[in-house]
Amino acid sequence: MSQSDFALFMGQLARKPHQVVALAPSSRFLCAEMVAGLDPAAGPVIELGAGTGNITRAILDRGIAPENLHSIEMNAEFCDRLRARFPGLNVYQMSAGDLGDLPVEDAQAVVSGLPLLSMPLPLQHSILSGTFRRVRTGGTYVQFTYGPKPPVARSVRDDLGLTWQVSRKIWWNLPPARVYRFSQAA
Ligand SMILES: C[S@@+](CC[C@H](N)C(=O)[O-])C[C@H]1O[C@@H](n2cnc3c(N)ncnc32)[C@H](O)[C@@H]1O
Repeated sequence: MSQSDFALFMGQLARKPHQVVALAPSSRFLCAEMVAGLDPAAGPVIELGAGTGNITRAILDRGIAPENLHSIEMNAEFCDRLRARFPGLNVYQMSAGDLGDLPVEDAQAVVSGLPLLSMPLPLQHSILSGTFRRVRTGGTYVQFTYGPKPPVARSVRDDLGLTWQVSRKIWWNLPPARVYRFSQAA
């Protein structure tokens, strides 16, 4: 019998706490807010830190075709689970820090489940600068956070000229979270 997604997530959290960095997978309420702005007719979507695929599922349910979704995850066991769960999905076992090299043009958004605030500044900078090389003009970087501050460091925001919008607090998540949508000034 295959291990449940929850058991797999908890097992990897125990083995690799510095990579997984969450008490539990994102709730369906948080996932719904993460994908709220996506449009099936507006081109590819890139996902970062897909884990066992809660946000992946929500992106597909929003109407994005699997061949138009490109999911990056560094953990090999999570990648195996994503390939088994979502036929046709593009799964890349790699670091999100190399996102700028992904062979995807004019993405509408990068949707991130990464523990961004716990990452070193140079890695944060690579992820955000890679994002704005891969998205079309006006494309967004979508990131949840549990804390009270924007989940992208000020120095990275200033260097890349980022502006943002923030959602209401999603209480039905462990812990409660907010979703930020960053875009780059023209
Ligand atoms: C908080 S979990 C989120 C999982 C899932 N998206 C969710 O929201 O429930 C963070 C995920 O990011 C992955 N991750 C951490 N650092 C990464 C990196 N540099 N590149 C790609 N994936 C990374 C972890 O392996 C883990 O699956």
